[in-house]
Amino acid sequence: MLTGKNILIGITGAIAAYKTLELIRLFKKNNAKVKIVVTPNALNFVTKTTLESLSQNSVDIEQFNIKEYKPEHIALTDEADIFIIAPISANTISKITHGVCDNLLTSTFCAFKKPILIAPCMNTNMWENPATQENLRILKERKITIVEPEVGFLACNAEGKGRLANINIIFETAKNILLPEQILKGKKIVITAGGTKENIDAVRYIGNYSSGKMGIALADNAHKLGAEVVLISTVEVKKQYKVINIKTAQEMYDAVKDEFQTADSLIMAAAVSDYRVKNKQDHKIKKDGTPLVIELIENPDILQEMSKIKKENQTVIGFCAESQNLLENAKTKIAKKGCDYICANDISQKDIGFSSDNNELYIIDKNLVISKIEKTSKQNAAMKILEKVYG
Ligand SMILES: Cc1cc2nc3c(=O)[nH]c(=O)nc-3n(C[C@H](O)[C@H](O)[C@H](O)COP(=O)(O)O)c2cc1C
Repeated sequence: MLTGKNILIGITGAIAAYKTLELIRLFKKNNAKVKIVVTPNALNFVTKTTLESLSQNSVDIEQFNIKEYKPEHIALTDEADIFIIAPISANTISKITHGVCDNLLTSTFCAFKKPILIAPCMNTNMWENPATQENLRILKERKITIVEPEVGFLACNAEGKGRLANINIIFETAKNILLPEQILKGKKIVITAGGTKENIDAVRYIGNYSSGKMGIALADNAHKLGAEVVLISTVEVKKQYKVINIKTAQEMYDAVKDEFQTADSLIMAAAVSDYRVKNKQDHKIKKDGTPLVIELIENPDILQEMSKIKKENQTVIGFCAESQNLLENAKTKIAKKGCDYICANDISQKDIGFSSDNNELYIIDKNLVISKIEKTSKQNAAMKILEKVYG
Protein backbone atom coordinates (compact mmCIF):
# COMPACT_ATOMS: atom_id res chain seq x y z
CA MET A 1 0.00 0.00 0.00
CA LEU A 2 2.83 2.40 0.83
CA THR A 3 5.31 1.19 -1.78
CA GLY A 4 7.74 3.96 -2.67
CA LYS A 5 6.96 6.01 0.45
CA ASN A 6 9.78 7.11 2.74
CA ILE A 7 8.80 7.47 6.36
CA LEU A 8 11.02 9.28 8.82
CA ILE A 9 10.14 8.35 12.39
CA GLY A 10 11.41 10.41 15.30
CA ILE A 11 11.46 9.01 18.85
CA THR A 12 12.00 11.03 22.02
CA GLY A 13 12.56 10.19 25.67
CA ALA A 14 9.01 9.27 26.61
CA ILE A 15 7.75 6.16 28.29
CA ALA A 16 5.69 4.94 25.31
CA ALA A 17 8.77 4.77 23.03
CA TYR A 18 8.49 0.97 23.05
CA LYS A 19 5.09 1.26 21.31
CA THR A 20 6.79 2.89 18.31
CA LEU A 21 8.35 -0.49 17.55
CA GLU A 22 4.88 -1.61 16.48
CA LEU A 23 4.45 1.51 14.33
CA ILE A 24 7.72 0.74 12.54
CA ARG A 25 6.54 -2.81 11.93
CA LEU A 26 3.23 -1.56 10.47
CA PHE A 27 5.00 0.71 7.99
CA LYS A 28 7.42 -2.05 6.98
CA LYS A 29 4.53 -4.48 6.54
CA ASN A 30 2.96 -1.96 4.15
CA ASN A 31 6.15 -1.78 2.05
CA ALA A 32 7.25 1.69 3.17
CA LYS A 33 10.92 2.52 3.73
CA VAL A 34 11.52 3.54 7.31
CA LYS A 35 14.33 5.69 8.65
CA ILE A 36 14.62 6.49 12.32
CA VAL A 37 16.05 9.47 14.13
CA VAL A 38 16.13 9.55 17.92
CA THR A 39 16.98 12.04 20.62
CA PRO A 40 19.84 10.82 22.84
CA ASN A 41 17.29 10.50 25.69
CA ALA A 42 15.11 8.14 23.65
CA LEU A 43 17.83 5.52 23.92
CA ASN A 44 17.02 5.24 27.64
CA PHE A 45 13.73 3.68 26.54
CA VAL A 46 14.51 1.70 23.35
CA THR A 47 17.75 0.34 21.97
CA LYS A 48 19.44 1.24 18.72
CA THR A 49 19.79 -2.45 17.89
CA THR A 50 16.04 -3.09 18.11
CA LEU A 51 15.25 -0.01 16.01
CA GLU A 52 17.82 -0.95 13.37
CA SER A 53 16.57 -4.52 13.20
CA LEU A 54 12.93 -3.53 12.79
CA SER A 55 13.49 -0.68 10.34
CA GLN A 56 16.23 -2.58 8.48
CA ASN A 57 18.02 0.72 8.32
CA SER A 58 20.67 2.57 10.28
CA VAL A 59 19.42 4.75 13.13
CA ASP A 60 20.60 8.34 13.30
CA ILE A 61 21.40 10.08 16.56
CA GLU A 62 24.44 12.18 15.83
CA GLN A 63 24.13 15.67 14.27
CA PHE A 64 27.73 15.87 13.19
CA ASN A 65 27.96 12.54 11.41
CA ILE A 66 28.29 14.20 8.01
CA LYS A 67 28.04 11.85 5.03
CA GLU A 68 28.99 12.90 1.50
CA TYR A 69 29.27 16.56 2.58
CA LYS A 70 25.56 16.76 3.38
CA PRO A 71 24.72 17.48 7.03
CA GLU A 72 22.71 14.61 8.46
CA HIS A 73 19.53 16.62 9.25
CA ILE A 74 19.39 17.89 5.65
CA ALA A 75 19.95 14.41 4.18
CA LEU A 76 17.06 13.10 6.30
CA THR A 77 14.68 15.85 5.13
CA ASP A 78 15.50 15.26 1.45
CA GLU A 79 14.45 11.62 1.45
CA ALA A 80 11.34 11.52 3.61
CA ASP A 81 7.72 12.02 2.51
CA ILE A 82 6.56 12.55 6.08
CA PHE A 83 8.14 13.08 9.50
CA ILE A 84 6.32 11.34 12.36
CA ILE A 85 7.51 12.04 15.89
CA ALA A 86 5.96 9.43 18.15
CA PRO A 87 6.09 9.62 21.03
CA ILE A 88 7.01 13.25 21.36
CA SER A 89 7.93 14.43 24.85
CA ALA A 90 6.82 17.72 26.45
CA ASN A 91 10.46 18.76 26.26
CA THR A 92 10.76 18.21 22.49
CA ILE A 93 7.35 19.82 21.87
CA SER A 94 8.66 22.92 23.57
CA LYS A 95 11.90 22.90 21.59
CA ILE A 96 10.34 22.47 18.16
CA THR A 97 7.76 25.20 18.86
CA HIS A 98 10.53 27.67 19.58
CA GLY A 99 12.94 26.69 16.83
CA VAL A 100 15.53 25.06 19.08
CA CYS A 101 17.92 22.85 17.06
CA ASP A 102 20.13 21.24 19.68
CA ASN A 103 20.02 17.64 18.51
CA LEU A 104 19.53 15.75 15.24
CA LEU A 105 15.77 15.33 15.74
CA THR A 106 15.04 18.99 16.52
CA SER A 107 17.33 20.21 13.69
CA THR A 108 15.58 17.85 11.28
CA PHE A 109 12.19 19.21 12.38
CA CYS A 110 13.34 22.76 11.74
CA ALA A 111 14.54 21.90 8.23
CA PHE A 112 11.56 19.74 7.29
CA LYS A 113 9.08 21.27 4.82
CA LYS A 114 6.90 18.27 4.06
CA PRO A 115 4.02 16.99 6.26
CA ILE A 116 4.79 16.49 9.95
CA LEU A 117 2.75 14.45 12.42
CA ILE A 118 3.38 14.40 16.15
CA ALA A 119 1.90 12.07 18.75
CA PRO A 120 2.50 13.36 22.31
CA CYS A 121 2.74 11.13 25.35
CA MET A 122 3.25 12.37 28.89
CA ASN A 123 1.98 12.55 32.44
CA THR A 124 -1.42 14.33 32.70
CA ASN A 125 0.02 17.29 34.61
CA MET A 126 2.67 17.78 31.92
CA TRP A 127 -0.07 17.56 29.27
CA GLU A 128 -2.25 20.12 31.06
CA ASN A 129 0.62 22.48 31.75
CA PRO A 130 -0.21 25.83 30.07
CA ALA A 131 3.19 25.89 28.36
CA THR A 132 2.56 22.51 26.73
CA GLN A 133 -0.96 23.52 25.67
CA GLU A 134 0.22 26.85 24.28
CA ASN A 135 3.01 25.11 22.35
CA LEU A 136 0.53 22.64 20.86
CA ARG A 137 -1.79 25.48 19.86
CA ILE A 138 1.06 27.17 18.01
CA LEU A 139 2.09 23.92 16.29
CA LYS A 140 -1.51 23.29 15.18
CA GLU A 141 -1.64 26.80 13.76
CA ARG A 142 1.52 25.95 11.80
CA LYS A 143 -0.28 22.99 10.22
CA ILE A 144 1.51 20.30 12.19
CA THR A 145 -0.82 17.29 12.52
CA ILE A 146 -1.28 16.36 16.18
CA VAL A 147 -2.61 12.94 17.12
CA GLU A 148 -3.74 13.66 20.66
CA PRO A 149 -3.01 11.28 23.53
CA GLU A 150 -5.73 9.13 25.06
CA VAL A 151 -7.21 9.14 28.54
CA GLY A 152 -6.24 6.06 30.50
CA PHE A 153 -3.99 4.45 33.04
CA LEU A 154 -0.51 5.97 32.82
CA ALA A 155 2.90 4.53 33.60
CA CYS A 156 3.21 6.93 36.55
CA ASN A 157 0.31 5.07 38.20
CA ALA A 158 -2.11 7.93 37.56
CA GLU A 159 -5.28 7.98 35.51
CA GLY A 160 -5.80 10.79 33.01
CA LYS A 161 -4.98 12.19 29.57
CA GLY A 162 -1.46 11.55 28.31
CA ARG A 163 -1.28 7.97 27.08
CA LEU A 164 0.12 7.70 23.54
CA ALA A 165 -2.68 7.38 20.97
CA ASN A 166 -3.37 3.91 19.64
CA ILE A 167 -0.63 3.00 17.13
CA ASN A 168 -3.24 2.10 14.48
CA ILE A 169 -4.69 5.61 14.72
CA ILE A 170 -1.23 7.14 14.26
CA PHE A 171 -0.61 4.83 11.29
CA GLU A 172 -4.01 5.59 9.67
CA THR A 173 -3.57 9.35 10.13
CA ALA A 174 -0.16 9.19 8.46
CA LYS A 175 -1.57 7.01 5.68
CA ASN A 176 -4.32 9.55 4.98
CA ILE A 177 -1.71 12.28 4.68
CA LEU A 178 0.43 10.17 2.35
CA LEU A 179 -2.46 8.83 0.26
CA PRO A 180 -5.15 11.49 0.01
CA GLU A 181 -8.76 10.55 -0.76
CA GLN A 182 -8.89 8.95 -4.20
CA ILE A 183 -11.30 11.45 -5.77
CA LEU A 184 -10.06 10.59 -9.28
CA LYS A 185 -10.29 6.81 -8.98
CA GLY A 186 -11.74 5.33 -12.17
CA LYS A 187 -11.00 8.46 -14.21
CA LYS A 188 -8.51 8.68 -17.06
CA ILE A 189 -6.77 12.04 -17.29
CA VAL A 190 -4.49 13.08 -20.14
CA ILE A 191 -2.03 15.82 -19.22
CA THR A 192 0.46 17.60 -21.46
CA ALA A 193 3.70 19.11 -20.17
CA GLY A 194 6.75 21.00 -21.38
CA GLY A 195 7.56 23.15 -24.37
CA THR A 196 7.38 21.74 -27.89
CA LYS A 197 10.42 21.92 -30.16
CA GLU A 198 9.99 22.64 -33.86
CA ASN A 199 12.93 21.52 -35.97
CA ILE A 200 14.61 23.98 -38.29
CA ASP A 201 17.33 21.61 -39.45
CA ALA A 202 19.28 18.64 -38.11
CA VAL A 203 20.61 20.59 -35.10
CA ARG A 204 18.37 23.62 -34.51
CA TYR A 205 14.85 24.12 -33.33
CA ILE A 206 12.34 26.76 -32.30
CA GLY A 207 11.39 26.26 -28.66
CA ASN A 208 10.19 28.04 -25.55
CA TYR A 209 11.14 28.29 -21.89
CA SER A 210 8.50 25.94 -20.46
CA SER A 211 10.13 23.56 -17.96
CA GLY A 212 7.19 21.13 -17.81
CA LYS A 213 7.10 21.43 -13.99
CA MET A 214 3.43 22.47 -13.81
CA GLY A 215 2.21 19.67 -16.10
CA ILE A 216 4.32 17.08 -14.29
CA ALA A 217 3.03 18.33 -10.91
CA LEU A 218 -0.53 17.96 -12.21
CA ALA A 219 0.20 14.42 -13.41
CA ASP A 220 1.86 13.45 -10.09
CA ASN A 221 -1.09 14.78 -8.10
CA ALA A 222 -3.75 13.28 -10.37
CA HIS A 223 -1.95 9.95 -9.91
CA LYS A 224 -1.96 10.46 -6.11
CA LEU A 225 -5.72 11.06 -6.29
CA GLY A 226 -6.19 7.71 -8.00
CA ALA A 227 -6.52 8.72 -11.67
CA GLU A 228 -5.21 6.67 -14.57
CA VAL A 229 -2.77 9.28 -15.84
CA VAL A 230 -1.27 9.64 -19.30
CA LEU A 231 1.40 12.31 -19.38
CA ILE A 232 2.31 13.53 -22.87
CA SER A 233 5.54 15.37 -22.30
CA THR A 234 8.48 16.97 -24.06
CA VAL A 235 10.50 16.42 -20.87
CA GLU A 236 11.72 12.87 -20.35
CA VAL A 237 10.63 11.55 -16.96
CA LYS A 238 10.25 8.10 -15.42
CA LYS A 239 6.98 7.76 -13.50
CA GLN A 240 4.66 5.13 -12.09
CA TYR A 241 2.05 6.17 -14.67
CA LYS A 242 2.11 6.15 -18.48
CA VAL A 243 4.40 8.74 -20.07
CA ILE A 244 4.50 9.42 -23.82
CA ASN A 245 7.54 11.43 -24.87
CA ILE A 246 7.12 13.72 -27.84
CA LYS A 247 8.99 16.71 -29.25
CA THR A 248 6.86 18.64 -31.72
CA ALA A 249 3.36 20.12 -31.58
CA GLN A 250 2.23 17.74 -34.32
CA GLU A 251 3.47 14.72 -32.31
CA MET A 252 1.70 16.10 -29.24
CA TYR A 253 -1.49 16.60 -31.25
CA ASP A 254 -1.41 13.00 -32.53
CA ALA A 255 -0.79 11.54 -29.06
CA VAL A 256 -3.46 13.72 -27.39
CA LYS A 257 -6.05 12.91 -30.06
CA ASP A 258 -5.39 9.22 -29.65
CA GLU A 259 -5.48 9.18 -25.82
CA PHE A 260 -8.33 11.69 -25.41
CA GLN A 261 -10.83 9.36 -27.12
CA THR A 262 -10.95 7.14 -24.03
CA ALA A 263 -10.26 9.84 -21.41
CA ASP A 264 -12.52 11.67 -18.98
CA SER A 265 -10.41 14.76 -19.03
CA LEU A 266 -7.60 16.61 -20.77
CA ILE A 267 -5.33 19.16 -19.11
CA MET A 268 -3.22 21.12 -21.58
CA ALA A 269 -0.41 22.49 -19.41
CA ALA A 270 2.21 22.31 -22.18
CA ALA A 271 3.47 25.37 -24.03
CA VAL A 272 2.74 24.40 -27.62
CA SER A 273 4.39 26.22 -30.49
CA ASP A 274 1.83 28.05 -32.63
CA TYR A 275 4.07 27.61 -35.69
CA ARG A 276 6.40 25.08 -37.26
CA VAL A 277 8.96 25.38 -40.03
CA LYS A 278 7.46 24.77 -43.45
CA ASN A 279 10.55 23.28 -45.07
CA LYS A 280 12.69 21.85 -42.30
CA GLN A 281 16.08 20.64 -43.49
CA ASP A 282 17.45 17.15 -42.83
CA HIS A 283 21.00 18.49 -42.74
CA LYS A 284 22.55 21.41 -40.86
CA ILE A 285 22.00 24.67 -42.71
CA LYS A 286 25.36 26.33 -43.49
CA LYS A 287 25.71 30.08 -43.32
CA ASP A 288 26.54 31.72 -46.65
CA GLY A 289 26.60 35.43 -45.82
CA THR A 290 22.99 36.08 -46.80
CA PRO A 291 20.02 36.44 -44.45
CA LEU A 292 18.27 33.17 -43.68
CA VAL A 293 14.53 33.31 -44.25
CA ILE A 294 12.46 30.62 -42.56
CA GLU A 295 8.83 30.26 -43.49
CA LEU A 296 6.55 29.25 -40.62
CA ILE A 297 3.16 27.61 -40.91
CA GLU A 298 0.53 27.22 -38.21
CA ASN A 299 0.45 24.13 -36.01
CA PRO A 300 -2.85 22.52 -35.10
CA ASP A 301 -4.46 24.21 -32.09
CA ILE A 302 -4.70 21.18 -29.80
CA LEU A 303 -6.79 22.86 -27.09
CA GLN A 304 -9.32 24.22 -29.58
CA GLU A 305 -9.50 21.00 -31.59
CA MET A 306 -10.06 18.80 -28.52
CA SER A 307 -12.63 21.25 -27.12
CA LYS A 308 -14.50 20.97 -30.43
CA ILE A 309 -14.65 17.18 -30.43
CA LYS A 310 -15.10 16.64 -26.69
CA LYS A 311 -18.14 14.68 -25.57
CA GLU A 312 -20.52 15.99 -22.94
CA ASN A 313 -18.93 13.97 -20.15
CA GLN A 314 -15.39 15.05 -21.01
CA THR A 315 -13.66 18.04 -19.39
CA VAL A 316 -10.98 20.10 -21.08
CA ILE A 317 -8.72 22.44 -19.14
CA GLY A 318 -6.36 24.85 -20.85
CA PHE A 319 -3.54 27.01 -19.57
CA CYS A 320 -2.64 30.50 -20.61
CA ALA A 321 0.64 32.12 -19.80
CA GLU A 322 0.43 35.88 -20.28
CA SER A 323 2.83 38.72 -19.68
CA GLN A 324 0.15 41.43 -19.67
CA ASN A 325 -3.66 41.84 -19.29
CA LEU A 326 -3.77 38.38 -17.74
CA LEU A 327 -7.46 38.07 -16.87
CA GLU A 328 -8.74 39.83 -20.01
CA ASN A 329 -6.65 37.56 -22.24
CA ALA A 330 -7.69 34.48 -20.26
CA LYS A 331 -11.40 35.33 -20.67
CA THR A 332 -10.94 35.85 -24.41
CA LYS A 333 -9.06 32.54 -24.64
CA ILE A 334 -11.71 30.45 -22.89
CA ALA A 335 -14.39 31.84 -25.22
CA LYS A 336 -12.25 31.31 -28.34
CA LYS A 337 -11.04 27.80 -27.49
CA GLY A 338 -14.32 26.49 -26.07
CA CYS A 339 -12.71 24.63 -23.17
CA ASP A 340 -14.26 24.18 -19.71
CA TYR A 341 -11.60 25.89 -17.62
CA ILE A 342 -8.57 28.09 -18.21
CA CYS A 343 -5.75 28.35 -15.68
CA ALA A 344 -4.05 31.69 -16.18
CA ASN A 345 -0.64 32.64 -14.91
CA ASP A 346 1.40 35.79 -15.18
CA ILE A 347 4.82 34.93 -16.63
CA SER A 348 6.09 38.51 -16.28
CA GLN A 349 6.63 37.84 -12.56
CA LYS A 350 10.05 36.21 -12.12
CA ASP A 351 9.24 34.19 -8.98
CA ILE A 352 6.31 32.36 -10.59
CA GLY A 353 5.72 30.86 -14.01
CA PHE A 354 7.92 29.05 -16.48
CA SER A 355 11.02 27.58 -14.78
CA SER A 356 10.09 28.51 -11.23
CA ASP A 357 9.07 25.93 -8.62
CA ASN A 358 6.19 28.21 -7.60
CA ASN A 359 3.08 29.46 -9.26
CA GLU A 360 0.16 31.82 -8.70
CA LEU A 361 -2.89 31.13 -10.81
CA TYR A 362 -6.41 32.15 -11.64
CA ILE A 363 -8.88 29.42 -12.58
CA ILE A 364 -11.62 30.70 -14.86
CA ASP A 365 -14.63 28.60 -15.73
CA LYS A 366 -17.01 28.80 -18.72
CA ASN A 367 -19.24 31.26 -16.86
CA LEU A 368 -16.20 33.45 -16.28
CA VAL A 369 -16.23 32.79 -12.54
CA ILE A 370 -12.69 33.37 -11.31
CA SER A 371 -10.95 31.73 -8.37
CA LYS A 372 -7.42 32.56 -7.33
CA ILE A 373 -4.70 30.18 -6.17
CA GLU A 374 -2.30 32.23 -4.10
CA LYS A 375 1.43 31.83 -4.69
CA THR A 376 2.51 28.36 -3.63
CA SER A 377 4.65 25.47 -4.88
CA LYS A 378 3.64 24.01 -8.25
CA GLN A 379 2.92 20.73 -6.46
CA ASN A 380 0.44 22.47 -4.13
CA ALA A 381 -1.03 24.54 -6.95
CA ALA A 382 -1.57 21.35 -8.97
CA MET A 383 -3.44 19.70 -6.09
CA LYS A 384 -5.59 22.82 -5.65
CA ILE A 385 -6.48 22.89 -9.38
CA LEU A 386 -7.51 19.22 -9.29
CA GLU A 387 -9.56 19.71 -6.12
CA LYS A 388 -11.25 22.78 -7.60
CA VAL A 389 -12.16 21.05 -10.88
CA TYR A 390 -12.92 17.53 -9.67
CA GLY A 391 -13.47 17.92 -5.91
C1 LIG B 1 11.01 6.85 33.37
C2 LIG B 1 10.75 8.14 32.65
C3 LIG B 1 9.68 8.29 31.85
C4 LIG B 1 9.41 9.49 31.19
N1 LIG B 1 8.32 9.60 30.37
C5 LIG B 1 8.05 10.75 29.76
C6 LIG B 1 6.90 10.85 28.93
O1 LIG B 1 6.15 9.92 28.71
N2 LIG B 1 6.66 12.06 28.35
C7 LIG B 1 7.48 13.13 28.52
O2 LIG B 1 7.19 14.19 27.96
N3 LIG B 1 8.59 13.04 29.30
C8 LIG B 1 8.87 11.89 29.93
N4 LIG B 1 10.00 11.77 30.72
C9 LIG B 1 10.89 12.93 30.83
C10 LIG B 1 11.79 13.06 29.62
O3 LIG B 1 12.53 11.89 29.40
C11 LIG B 1 12.68 14.27 29.72
O4 LIG B 1 11.92 15.45 29.73
C12 LIG B 1 13.74 14.33 28.68
O5 LIG B 1 14.48 15.52 28.83
C13 LIG B 1 13.16 14.31 27.27
O6 LIG B 1 14.20 14.39 26.35
P1 LIG B 1 13.98 14.50 24.77
O7 LIG B 1 12.76 15.32 24.56
O8 LIG B 1 15.21 15.16 24.26
O9 LIG B 1 13.89 13.11 24.25
C14 LIG B 1 10.28 10.58 31.37
C15 LIG B 1 11.40 10.43 32.18
C16 LIG B 1 11.64 9.24 32.81
C17 LIG B 1 12.86 9.12 33.69
